[in-house]
Amino acid sequence: MRIGALTLPSNLFLSPLAGYTNLPFRLVVREIGGVGLCTTDLVNARSLLEKNKNALKLIETRPADAPLAVQLFGSVPEEMRDAAAQLESLGFASVDINMGCPVRKVCNVGGGSAMMTELGKTAALVKGMVEAVKIPVTAKMRLGWDDDNLTAPDLARALEDAGIAAIFVHGRTREQGFGGTVNLAGIRKVVEAVKNIPIIGNGDIITPPAAKKMLDETGCAGVSIGRGAFYNPWIFQHTLNYLRTSASTSKPANVVAAGVSPRHLKVVQFAPTDVGGCRKEDGELLPEPAFADRVRVMCRHLDLMIEIFGEEHGCRMFRKVAPWYAKRFGPCHEFNKRVVQVSTRAEFRNVLENYIRWRQQFLDGNGELQPRYRPQPMIASFMREAEPASTQREHIPVPKGPVEVW
Ligand SMILES: Cc1cc2nc3c(=O)[nH]c(=O)nc-3n(C[C@H](O)[C@H](O)[C@H](O)COP(=O)(O)O)c2cc1C
Repeated sequence: MRIGALTLPSNLFLSPLAGYTNLPFRLVVREIGGVGLCTTDLVNARSLLEKNKNALKLIETRPADAPLAVQLFGSVPEEMRDAAAQLESLGFASVDINMGCPVRKVCNVGGGSAMMTELGKTAALVKGMVEAVKIPVTAKMRLGWDDDNLTAPDLARALEDAGIAAIFVHGRTREQGFGGTVNLAGIRKVVEAVKNIPIIGNGDIITPPAAKKMLDETGCAGVSIGRGAFYNPWIFQHTLNYLRTSASTSKPANVVAAGVSPRHLKVVQFAPTDVGGCRKEDGELLPEPAFADRVRVMCRHLDLMIEIFGEEHGCRMFRKVAPWYAKRFGPCHEFNKRVVQVSTRAEFRNVLENYIRWRQQFLDGNGELQPRYRPQPMIASFMREAEPASTQREHIPVPKGPVEVW
């Protein structure tokens, strides 16, 4: 997978989730493996130039956290340009621009929405950034404001002409928020609109078959995963394995590396399914991580939070993180109720030990959850038409935060 001059170990990306995809989480994901590029939470370009303490904390990184992109937000071309140059001098792999939602009144400070409505102005801002740095400059956008205003293909074309190196597209409109189905045909239109740059598809990828379906049906060169990684930090490793072992006719990453536009890829029609919307023989699905593995990784995550943010602050921040791990534990209300009160590592350990004891009542003789207590399989919005009628589904929750601007 290549983005400009940058060669990445895989075509799987960690999406920015403000408040969640910080250094500790990125390290957790990288230790498990499979991810090609991570992106920081959104950072205000001006705050970065002013060396604001919070902005600097957002770009904190380590050698083990490479390659890393920083996502910038802003509308003043000079500030965006200078912030990009600053990031390049600090050694970051690439700079991503948040293009947010597409209607001016929604974002009256001129970033995000204004960027999608004022193509000329946005292209000029991007050109200024591209000319100021050698590292790739990328952009992240939605499909448009609503189904009648799918502006992403036009914007993508203008940005490619301005020198952007890749585009991340969340396959929903601003009006959709996080509801409804991710529009694979919409992402495909963006793929078809550009000549050479890779388009990275995004939205609702929570299983390896969902990643493959997005790659196959849109021709995108890679996929970016946000909330799915919070449920399951193994998703990159498992997806990479699934893609490598599948007999797909579509190999977008290789084709892009060879300089062939992904829009020329053959579109594979999805066949009747038996595993989360994909035939088993399409690839090897590694087993879901065991409870003990999830607990081990969760504890590692907390250790890193404490190391990077200090014990009290790290534990407080972890109050909103731990319940994401717990979503795959089976019955977990005893854990969630108590973990939101922890302020020290010792308190967390205590909550965990009590929970492990309490959870034993739901186990069978082999120490596995009894079938009726097992969490339901996760199914992406765009896999539902292929879903067996008998399968119950769980929607992907949206964490608290200013989600209306993402
Ligand atoms: C809590 C939260 C924070 C987010 N923060 C950002 C952000 O800082 N920058 C951005 O471009 N997108 C942000 N997003 C959007 C995600 O990157 C992604 O496009 C969206 O969640 C869909 O992908 P997913 O279904 O894999 O999560 C955020 C989404 C959520 C739910």
